[in-house]
Amino acid sequence: MSVALVTGSTRGIGLAAARRLAEDGVTVVVNGTDAERAAAVAAELGGDALPFDVADADAVQAAVRELFSRHKRLDVLVNNAGILDDALLGMIQPQRTFDVNALGVLNTMQACARLLARGDGGAIVNVASIIGITGNRGQVAYAGSKAAVIGMTRSAAKELAPKVRVNAVAPGFIDTDMTRALDPEIFEERVASVALGRAGTPEEVAEAIAWLASDRARYVTGQVLGVDGGMVI
Ligand code: NAI
Repeated sequence: MSVALVTGSTRGIGLAAARRLAEDGVTVVVNGTDAERAAAVAAELGGDALPFDVADADAVQAAVRELFSRHKRLDVLVNNAGILDDALLGMIQPQRTFDVNALGVLNTMQACARLLARGDGGAIVNVASIIGITGNRGQVAYAGSKAAVIGMTRSAAKELAPKVRVNAVAPGFIDTDMTRALDPEIFEERVASVALGRAGTPEEVAEAIAWLASDRARYVTGQVLGVDGGMVI
């Protein structure tokens, strides 16, 4: 049976992706910084919990060693953990955003690459953002960190082929705790910029993640798939 590590899968898009992969019969290793929540989700999915901070490279290495000792394989890595800390240029405190959103992705890809390459067709799906392509006012750090995810996705796809496929999804505006923490006026403003006229659901992004992670996308690598309801056309 396939094994997937989904970072940040205690809520939002990551939780939906974990549920969707479990529906496909994949054993999901649930991650997040909240250990109790990770254990509860793992119990719901009949999977396993490995809470760690993706920004801590040593913790990531230790967690992947633990994953190997428990499961002996890894087929899918979904890099979903991310944070949003909007601020205008003069006010930005960028370190944590880059540590989690960009280096977090690098840390897990580095720790998991060999293990993914041992199986018969490993896959990495990185969760970028449409903002990493278009940029946005108040999101210089966030956009920079997500543009880094896109660059890393394409580079890793070249480096890890043919053993491991590496793709990204670029969600637009999705209704999660992350976006509900925004000022309601900004929430409505962003929804108004979506061609399909509404925010997306975590399940709609999860569907794209599950497809890219599966053998159904076996000839797709190095791609960035927008899941944005036409926010960017
Ligand atoms: P969320 O805030 O609801 O969930 C984030 C998850 O990441 C949580 O499970 C949290 O525990 C985990 N997490 C945060 N920092 C972590 C760390 N250092 N180590 C391990 N886990 C950590 O966020 P949401 O909305 O579900 O977003 C998920 C991903 O999708 C993020 O990468 C986000 O940037 C991206 N995204 C979200 C969009 C949206 O509109 N909600 C749009 C575009 C991209």
